[in-house]
Order: sequence, then structure tokens, then C-alpha cells
Amino acid sequence: MARTPLVVGNWKLHNGVADSLALATEIKNQLFNIRRVEVAVAPVFTALHAVGKRLEGTALGLAAQDCFWEDNGAWTGEVSAALLRDLGCAYVIVGHSERRRYFGELDASVNLKARAVLRHGMSPIMCIGESEAERDAGETFGRLAAQLDGGLAEIPGSDATRVVIAYEPIWAIGTGRTASVGQVEEAHGFIRARLRDRWGDLADDIRIQYGGSVKPENAQQLMVAADVDGALVGGASLKPESFIAIARAAVP
Ligand code: PGA
Repeated sequence: MARTPLVVGNWKLHNGVADSLALATEIKNQLFNIRRVEVAVAPVFTALHAVGKRLEGTALGLAAQDCFWEDNGAWTGEVSAALLRDLGCAYVIVGHSERRRYFGELDASVNLKARAVLRHGMSPIMCIGESEAERDAGETFGRLAAQLDGGLAEIPGSDATRVVIAYEPIWAIGTGRTASVGQVEEAHGFIRARLRDRWGDLADDIRIQYGGSVKPENAQQLMVAADVDGALVGGASLKPESFIAIARAAVP
């Protein structure tokens, strides 16, 4: 059982091409040959091509923040997984809580997206997590189970180890409130067990990232927690020195 941690910077709706390139360059200068941890950045769609070119030949990967599941057709405004593969993306975030909350994404569409990402040879980073109200009501595990079961439906075991799960409690995203190590280990342990129910021992090879106010000050303790295999980083990924420190903290 050797899972390589994965640290991904989710830049969200920040930075045009020039600023994305500047940020990518600072990260590249420090982390171009990082080992034992996979590192990727997820710029806005319009900067993917330029950032991908900038990172070529380094250990750093390119990720997209979302995708559409059909490859082509009359779908005005959509960006397919096929197009993202064409740009050199290795990962696509699917089902981020902001997509679920503001754009009405359901587990069924997250599932279609994840399967499209896998069909095109990339890794889906599937975000799941409970709201504060769900946690307070004792519904955390039920919520996680429903998101996993819906999002992973019909994905065969042959694709399982390319799937990445990001546990992101909604109340910890962008709030500065990080989940405690105990809360993270409990949730990750539950997710691992659910993956084992679905795919047996393949579950030991699936990365489970933590996301939600990860910063250099808390990265170390989170990265060594049981069943934590890297981080999905929002706000702190926009500051090169913070993101670099988090990536280094994830080296086992
Ligand atoms: P945050 O965002 O690090 O700013 O909390 C994490 C995410 O949304 O993936």
C-alpha cells in the first residue's frame, strides 16, 4: 500500500492568463522536480493552455476545475473532458461544493463527469463533504455515503485507482475554519471503508485528499493524519510561498 500524496491548487475564479503564468512560474521554480508527492494546479479554463505549456517537462501537473460529460455536439458553452485531455490535463475536479451549491450539480451529473474524465484517461478529483447543518444533525456519514454512492456509480474496479476523493467539509471551505485532525481522520476512515465495500482492497490505493482552509500552519498535522493523501487547496494556493510550503509538507 503506497499512495503518493496529491496536492492540487484550486485557483477558482482568480487570475487571467498573465497572472496565472506568473503564479505557475513561481511554483515551477521551486517545485519543478518535487518527488514523492504529486503536485498540480487548476487555473481558470482560459489559462489552462498557457499554464500547461509553462509546466511542460516538469513534475507538475495540470488540472481543470470542472468539465462536461459529452465529448462534442450542440452544447453551447460547455468544455468537455475530451478537450481538457487535449490540453494536457491529468486531473479534473468534479462536484466541488461551489458547483453543487451555486450551479445545482447533483450526484448524477458528478458521476457522468467523473466517468467522462476516466474515459479520457485522466483522474477525476471528486469532492464530497457535509454542510455545517448536516454535521450538527449527525448526518455527516449519511451525506458522505450518498455522495460516494451516487458519484461513483458504474465506475468499474479497473478505473478505481485513478479516482481521487477530496473530503471537503463545506463549513471549512474559505472560512479559515479547518476541520480538526480527529474529524478528518474519522471522515477519511469512513470514506476508505465505503470504498472498500465497493472495490475491495483497491481502496488501499485510492487517494483521499483533505480540503478546507489548508494553510502552511496546519498542513503538516493534516498531511500525517491517517488516511489523508494530500490536499485540495483553495485560498492558500494563490500565494506561491504558501502553496509551496503545503506541497512540501505533504512529502511523506
Ligand atoms: P480553501 O478552499 O482552501 O480556500 O478553503 C478549498 C477548496 O474549495 O477546494
